[in-house]
Amino acid sequence: MKKLRSQEWYGRQDRDGFIHRSWMKNQGWPHDLFDGRPVIGICNTWSELTPCNAHFRELAEFVKRGVWEAGGFPLEFPVMSLGETQLRPTAMFFRNLASMDVEESIRGNPMDGVVLLMGCDKTTPSLLMGAASCNLPTIGLSGGPMLSGKFHGKDLGSGTGVWLMTDELRAGKMKLEEFFEAESCMHRSKGHCMTMGTASTMASMVEALGMSLPGNAAIPAVDARRNTLAQMTGRRIVQMVKDDLCMSKILTREAFENAILANAAIGGSTNAVIHLIAIAGRIGVTLSLNDFDQLGSSLPCLVNIQPSGKYLMEDFFYAGGLPVVLRELGEADLLRREALTANGQTIWNNVIEAPCWNRDVIHRFSEPFKPTAGIAVLRGNLAPDGAVIKPSAASPELLRHRGRAVVFESIEEFHSRINDEELEIDESCVMVLKNCGPRGYPGMAEVGNMMLPPKLLRKGVTDMVRISDARMSGTAYGTVVLHVCPEAAVGGPLALVQSGDMITLDVPSRTLQLEVEEATLARRRTEWKPPAMPERGWQRLYAERVMQADKGADLDFLVGRSGALVARDSH
Ligand code: FES
Repeated sequence: MKKLRSQEWYGRQDRDGFIHRSWMKNQGWPHDLFDGRPVIGICNTWSELTPCNAHFRELAEFVKRGVWEAGGFPLEFPVMSLGETQLRPTAMFFRNLASMDVEESIRGNPMDGVVLLMGCDKTTPSLLMGAASCNLPTIGLSGGPMLSGKFHGKDLGSGTGVWLMTDELRAGKMKLEEFFEAESCMHRSKGHCMTMGTASTMASMVEALGMSLPGNAAIPAVDARRNTLAQMTGRRIVQMVKDDLCMSKILTREAFENAILANAAIGGSTNAVIHLIAIAGRIGVTLSLNDFDQLGSSLPCLVNIQPSGKYLMEDFFYAGGLPVVLRELGEADLLRREALTANGQTIWNNVIEAPCWNRDVIHRFSEPFKPTAGIAVLRGNLAPDGAVIKPSAASPELLRHRGRAVVFESIEEFHSRINDEELEIDESCVMVLKNCGPRGYPGMAEVGNMMLPPKLLRKGVTDMVRISDARMSGTAYGTVVLHVCPEAAVGGPLALVQSGDMITLDVPSRTLQLEVEEATLARRRTEWKPPAMPERGWQRLYAERVMQADKGADLDFLVGRSGALVARDSH
């Protein structure tokens, strides 16, 4: 084993070695722990304000067990935690900030390997991004999904149930007391959202990328086997350090291709597009929007989980979880079988015998749950740099649609007008929301799945074409065009749309067209005024340096990696 990085701190026989060891000894660590054994950082996103990760201190104890067993020295450290349901204006606004925290915490401290504890949506990409820029031996561990929500004798899925019940409430089909009763029934155990929302999608991406041990995606947070996985992860990272199995050996182009394939097959979140591109950018792999369309959009959806299907993550686990999906992809000759994973095996070796226990939850490739899945990338004069839609969550009859635009210039205008009975809108219209992109919101909030007007809900309308530069929750559904690039706030064509314009969406042809003459658009462009830049702080830095969604919405100066070396010491 080569000399460990941590020995630059703890192996020194001088004043600075004294300083590094002595202050650590105030925690009671005996001297022999500094003898050159691997120091494992446990990067913890625990926070009571991130309810999906609130059990992570407990989980970290199981990781530590494994690290001790394998002869390592575990040291847990906190990083900024992003609670999707609590943070304003949106957790995504802080993803890159948290990634900087992760990167510098790893680089600046004496650790040889890292375990990333991830759960709620943005905690997964932010940790992977930050760690990738350091490129130490690193392994991921997700916190696991919650148990299935149960309400009035039926399953109730995180997020998805909220959108459904909100529409029922607004249509007068549900009582307010029932709506609030469901609050306690939806989220009844520790863990993250148990639909195939962004958290479950990203936990699946961690596994498909090979960044975790097999089984990471689906074991419920409360299942004892989640703790077992944590312990095994702790054991494994020590060996990864000894083998110098750094992140860049796992996060290859093939690994990202596997993630794209898996995202399609599970009916995963559109948010995976932005996060995977951002992670790839950090590690130095070229990944573009087109890769998602070319690799994933012709695939069938195999997994019958909300929001695309009816089951929940608990059912997915009992049916066999992600290894079954990866096996199906392998048997269809799609999986990049030789991609290396964190346990030192190829991904194919890990899943080759994965058994399926319920074919209604995980379908065979030859008899898929839905024939088309993945992410379709749209282009046209309304989205020159691309926009995305998730066909499996859309209404098939709306995938080709021409309609009159009803434009909302901001989220505030949307909220103030959508309940107006006088709003000139019918089900054939196309709802357009502006200024909700990375710079515009700021942080590209999950507001793209706009609520439908109550007067149309009462008529029984359940879906309409909606277009924005925003994102949508992975738990949401509908014919929703998202991530329009360039966004309105930087002067993209979306900024020029006016109510009454005609828009044509053609998903099979991958086009999104604004039917307005170029001369008219040119005139509107000269009249367009950019929104004011924020004055100070993170908001200012973010607005100045954030890239568009097609580039992963990372800050431009964070792309790439600096490695883990810091030559200068503190005293
Ligand atoms: Fe945390 Fe959904 S709110 S995973």
